Amino acid sequence: MRTAIISDIHANVYALKAVLEDIEAHEVDRVICLGDVIGYGPDPIECVDLVREHCALTLLGNHDFACRTQPVNFNFMARDAALWTQDRLDLPYPDEAAREERIRFLDSLPVRQMLDDDPRFLCVHGSSRHPTNEYVFPDDGFRAERMKPLFDRFEGICFEGHTHWPGVFVCEQLSGQDPSYSFYRGFCEEGRQGSLCGGTQTGIDRIVLRLSEGTRYIINPGSVGQPRDGDSWASWSILDQPDGETDTDPTLTFHRTNYDWMRVRERIEQYRRDGDDRLDPFLGERLGMGR
Ligand SMILES: [Fe+2]
Repeated sequence: MRTAIISDIHANVYALKAVLEDIEAHEVDRVICLGDVIGYGPDPIECVDLVREHCALTLLGNHDFACRTQPVNFNFMARDAALWTQDRLDLPYPDEAAREERIRFLDSLPVRQMLDDDPRFLCVHGSSRHPTNEYVFPDDGFRAERMKPLFDRFEGICFEGHTHWPGVFVCEQLSGQDPSYSFYRGFCEEGRQGSLCGGTQTGIDRIVLRLSEGTRYIINPGSVGQPRDGDSWASWSILDQPDGETDTDPTLTFHRTNYDWMRVRERIEQYRRDGDDRLDPFLGERLGMGR
């Protein structure tokens, strides 16, 4: 079974379409989405419809929740974007039945879900402890007091998004010893020749997940629609699970996909020119910086 894992699309339909095309070229069996389909970006309707069409499982993100209820503990920029998104979701586009379907979908998203009912594969948006809202940043990865309560809450792998930073947190425990914690940044060099965004970045592009040895992992695929690790290319992952072989461990690979972020910036600025200033121009500018 080959599963593409995407997260944090944030209503960026240009990034989402490019990633879905790339995923198709990688011949996966299914796609799962770890939430934040909407919020920040200019095309929430299109993103919800594409995710509904393509994803076998989608989790609830904090922005999805805010756009369907009310934004709480958001900064001004995120709050205004959520309120703008709520108005977009009210549009009967292309008809009332489609609007209702979209709302039904968003309101039915789970906050936590086991993949294939397998207790070794937990999916959330934030963390195993606070599935919608807790951030687990790379700097947390080596701190036992920070990571232990998170790793204690699941068996094998916890897939999570939310920070927009791709990477793998690892918890290893040799018998009779305290567990050790580490973090590896997710990195992908494939197709990067000529890219201005690669810079001096480093990390791992592939990891064997040694579940048979009792090691546990937290995996973050990064963000499709608003990367924040200094790389403007959309970030996502593939999980390869061996079929019918219990003694072979799964592997994870990190992927990046280029897309035309300037068109997204232009879409955001157009709303402002048309008299609605609730989408901050910075939401477009930051896409080019990957911040
Ligand atoms: Fe997000």
